[in-house]
Amino acid sequence: MELNDHIEKILWTEKQISERVSELGSQITRDFKAQPVAPVVVGVATGAFLFLADIVRKIHLPITVDFIRVDSYGSGTVSSGQPTISFDLKVDVRGKHVVVVEDIVDTGSTLSCLIDHLKSKGASSVSVCTLLDKPTKRKIHFELVGEGKYYCGFECPDYFVVGYGLDMAELYRNLPYVGVLKPEMYK
Ligand code: PRP
Ligand code: MN
Ligand code: MG
Repeated sequence: MELNDHIEKILWTEKQISERVSELGSQITRDFKAQPVAPVVVGVATGAFLFLADIVRKIHLPITVDFIRVDSYGSGTVSSGQPTISFDLKVDVRGKHVVVVEDIVDTGSTLSCLIDHLKSKGASSVSVCTLLDKPTKRKIHFELVGEGKYYCGFECPDYFVVGYGLDMAELYRNLPYVGVLKPEMYK
């Protein structure tokens, strides 16, 4: 069975994603171009890897790029609510503007943990750029740091979505679009 045959419907196509990513990149470029030092753009592994790769090429500033890993879902589809930082930054963010790049914000617990962590490392501002947001699922309120801004690609309906970085038990991250699985694909 081919990968595409696992998908019931596509929510955002490759083209729609790429157009939105360009818009978000331009917005970030505009918002940070007056700063003396360009931001540190931090991708949240693993889910953000494609979005990060695409958006950094649309931010026309001398940014630095780094990764961090926060685990909360493990292999399941429901958040444990207990995120832990299992792989930390290489770059020193003290006194820097940080833009966290996420594939999706759901309960908010991953971001809340991450923002606290970046704040404790002395970031002068923390912004968030997420491809998808599921505001109806929010459980944990998080506050951006300093003059941090919130960028969102699309508001996501309450489906379990896969593709463009988003997984189900580590599968489907390599789909170029975001979609919903056929019911028989849930294990
Ligand atoms: C997913 C997603 C976000 C987080 C959002 O990551 O990529 O990072 O959950 O959920 P929350 O708002 O409820 O915290 P996951 O923990 O599945 O790891 P992954 O990125 O490696 O898939
Ligand atoms: Mn993630
Ligand atoms: Mg996951």
